Amino acid sequence: MSLCELKAAQSAMYLIRRYAIDEQSADALLQWLKPYEDFTYRQVGDWQALAGLSLKKSMLPKASSQYAQDLIDKMVLLIKEELHHFYQVLEVMAEQGIVYEKITSSRYAKGLLRHVRTYEPEAMIDKLICGAYIEARSCERFAKLAPFLPQRIADFYISLLRSEARHYQDYLSLAQQIAQADISERVAFFGVIEAELITTPDADFKFHSGVPQ
Ligand SMILES: [Fe+2]
Ligand SMILES: [Fe+2]
Repeated sequence: MSLCELKAAQSAMYLIRRYAIDEQSADALLQWLKPYEDFTYRQVGDWQALAGLSLKKSMLPKASSQYAQDLIDKMVLLIKEELHHFYQVLEVMAEQGIVYEKITSSRYAKGLLRHVRTYEPEAMIDKLICGAYIEARSCERFAKLAPFLPQRIADFYISLLRSEARHYQDYLSLAQQIAQADISERVAFFGVIEAELITTPDADFKFHSGVPQ
């Protein structure tokens, strides 16, 4: 699950680097994420050292873009929250005596992103819609799982709901704002793909997987 939080931060970071900020800001963003990635992918560092790491520089929008500031504001907040979730997951794991193990990602996000159109701004709009589905589905799964979990973990899941719910709304409203046209058809299109990913048999059992085989 900590991997989901890191992936969420990474994809938000990718979006602002690709679409909204100047190069120096992009470097500062990568530096911010690096200790988390080192820990996750290279087993470098101590998870406790990840507490309260913050972004050292304010993000400057690319001059050419009208939506850039809004994208930056929403995504920087989202990254902060996801990195905090990441830390919280490690904290809960340590309490429960669970050792951190590297895992691969499930088919879910890849399965959605495969259908992103290849030209702009449609590609960006599609990525934002995918982001909204991923966040909304996490939100739903936290809520559904909580009643079956030990109190400490249930409380933690419930504490995540509020920010995950805002994340999906932020993604959707950005998609809407950038499209400047009705996106409901595209939302429905990804809805069909998303439904298939979560309702069909899936050999890989992860937070976002389909029906366990
Ligand atoms: Fe999260
Ligand atoms: Fe989230």
